[in-house]
Amino acid sequence: MPSLDAQSIFDRHLPAKVSLQAEADCYAPSNIALSKYWGKRNKALNLPQNSSLSISLRDWGSRTKISASTTGDDSVSLNGKHLAPESPFARKLIGHVEAFRRDQTIPLRIETINTIPTAAGLASSASGFAALTLALDAAFGLELPKSTLSMLARIGSGSASRSLWHGFVEWSCGDEQDGSDSIAHPLDGVWPDFRIAIVPVDTGPKSQSSRDGMNHTTATSPLYKVWPDQAETDCAIIRNAVLEQDFETLGATAEANALAMHATMMAARPALIYLKPQSWQILDTVRDSRKKGHAIYATMDAGANVKLLFLSQDEAHVKEVFPTADIICPFEPLVP
Ligand code: PMV
Repeated sequence: MPSLDAQSIFDRHLPAKVSLQAEADCYAPSNIALSKYWGKRNKALNLPQNSSLSISLRDWGSRTKISASTTGDDSVSLNGKHLAPESPFARKLIGHVEAFRRDQTIPLRIETINTIPTAAGLASSASGFAALTLALDAAFGLELPKSTLSMLARIGSGSASRSLWHGFVEWSCGDEQDGSDSIAHPLDGVWPDFRIAIVPVDTGPKSQSSRDGMNHTTATSPLYKVWPDQAETDCAIIRNAVLEQDFETLGATAEANALAMHATMMAARPALIYLKPQSWQILDTVRDSRKKGHAIYATMDAGANVKLLFLSQDEAHVKEVFPTADIICPFEPLVP
């Protein structure tokens, strides 16, 4: 069950009683932030210290199916495998379901399929909470506006607020204490040549969750003071770069923003270091490529894997230099 604060937000947006109206089957893409969310001003509501802007990963995401459970209990599965109710994944997921279920007994069967290759080492909480929120809305026939769904998905996982749309998405920080203006919206900007490559470094579980990592950074890093303003500035620069299709500004700002975020973590006490020697080697290779005239930029999240940003004209070069990378074309039509 979410904290009382979160519950009051659900109370405000959901009817007092819900019932299962239909089976639901919903998909949400994962996303990678070009300017990052790192640090919360309200932990219960996942309200960020700064706005952030992401690109969705098209067919890399989560599909969640909700139907009536025939056993009288909730049943949760992930990639076809039944999960024990006390497993961390099932508990987090059921906590979100409880908030929608309004204290009623409606046993559900919740099946999640992640379409993100495990070898890519990418977290799926953003797409997972977004797909779950969409599926709960559909299953209970709520028909909530997408902006409200973004806010409710955010309570499950901050970055999930951005996973309700394809393409470029901005999550506005907002000022309201209840987070009613801390919601995401899609940006105008179809950019067919835009490419992302995931270069796997470490595909195991994170050394520290982003939730714990950002709380530790905000509490102890002397460099964190400068982060929210810089991140807000970077977000605005990247928004303009998206609208003007100025790739070099977008890439350079995204890379600088990721490195600044990692600098705040490394200055935390004790230090929080997600990057591994191989991540730094990849960053070196990216810089070398740039010196040779290829506009390739890197970004990294709460893990060691490196994500590359480039345009289709550099795809052959990326494939040659990073043969283990998976390449995503975020604006190619999605085949259902
Ligand atoms: O929403 P969370 O708790 O998974 O945090 C996401 C944090 C980063 O991925 C590092 C940055 C971001 O904006 O996605």
